[in-house]
Amino acid sequence: MDVRRIGVVGLGAMGAGIAQVAIEAGFEVVGREVSDELGAKAAGRIRHFLSRKVEKGQRTAAERDAAVGRLATATDLAELADCDLVIEAIVEELDAKQELFGELERLCRADAVLATNTSALSVTEIAAATSSPERVVGMHFFNPAPLMPLVEVVRAELSTDEAVEAALGVVERLGKVAVPCHDTPGFVVNRVLIPLLNDCVRVLDEARVTPESLDAAMTNGAGWPMGPCTLVDLVGIDVHVHASEALYEKLREPRMAPPPRLVAMRNAGLLGRKSGRGFYAY
Ligand code: CAA
Repeated sequence: MDVRRIGVVGLGAMGAGIAQVAIEAGFEVVGREVSDELGAKAAGRIRHFLSRKVEKGQRTAAERDAAVGRLATATDLAELADCDLVIEAIVEELDAKQELFGELERLCRADAVLATNTSALSVTEIAAATSSPERVVGMHFFNPAPLMPLVEVVRAELSTDEAVEAALGVVERLGKVAVPCHDTPGFVVNRVLIPLLNDCVRVLDEARVTPESLDAAMTNGAGWPMGPCTLVDLVGIDVHVHASEALYEKLREPRMAPPPRLVAMRNAGLLGRKSGRGFYAY
C-alpha cells in the first residue's frame, strides 16, 4: 500500500514525536487530541524542535515551514477517515485502546492499516476488539521518538503480510530502523530493558548508592548513553511502573514486577521529567 496520509491518535510525548518524524519525512499527518488546547500544545512543541534544527543548520526555515504545513490537528476522530495508516499513542490501558480501535475500524477506510504504539500490552488483544484484526499491527517507537532510531514492527496473531509490510515500508521512509517481531510480552527491547531498569532501582537500596552514583556507574562502566535513573525519569515513572505491571502479569517473573520504591514515587506524583520531579528535579 502507498501510505501518504498518517493519523496519530494522542499527541503526548510519544504521539507528538511520531507526528514530528512523519511530517519531517514528507507524510501528511492528522494528529488527534481530546481538546484544541492539547492539540495546539503538541503542534507548538513540534515547531519548537524543528526550529531548533533550523537554528543548528540541520534544516532550512522553508523545510520547517513545509513540514509544519503537513500537520493538521483535530479533536474529532472522524477527521482521520481518509488516512492510510493510523498510529495510536493514547494512554496504556487495554479498555481505552480497544474502544478506540473499535471506533477507528468504523471510521477509517477498510484498507487502512491500524497500528498501536503500545509498549507492553498485547497487540493481539487490542486487535481482538475489532472485526478486522488482520489489519492491526504494532509500531512501537522509543522515547524520545525523534531521536531514537528503532521501531519494533509487531505482527499480531492475525496480522496480514500486507499490513506488516505497509508498516515496515513507513518505518523505512521515516529513516528509522525496523525490527520485525511477534507479539510477545514486551516484544524485544522492553522484555530486556524493563527488568534491567527494575534491577537498577533495586540496586539503589541494596548497594546504598545515590541515583547520581548509579547513573555515573552505568554511563561510565557500561557505556549507557544516559544513566538508569535519568532514563526512568525520561520515560515517566508511571509509564515504567505500568509497563512493569503489564509484563509481570503476563510472565510472572519477579524481576518484571515494579520495585516498591518506584510504585511509591508514582503514587506520590513523582513521575519524572514531565511532573518536574522524579529521581531528579527538573
Ligand atoms: N524531540 C525532538 N528533538 C528532541 C527531543 C524530542 N523529544 N528531545 C531532545 N531533542 C533534541 C534536543 O533539542 C537536542 O538539541 P538542542 O538541545 O541542541 O536543541 C537534540 O535533540 C539532542 O539532544 P541531546 O543533546 O539530549 O542528545 P544526546 O546526544 O544527549 O542524546 C538521547 C539523547 C538520544 C536521548 C540519548 O541520551 C539516549 O539514547 N538515551 C537513551 C534513551 C533510551 O534508552 N530510550 C528508550 C527508552 S525505553 C522506551 O522508550 C520504551 C518504552 O516503551 C517505555
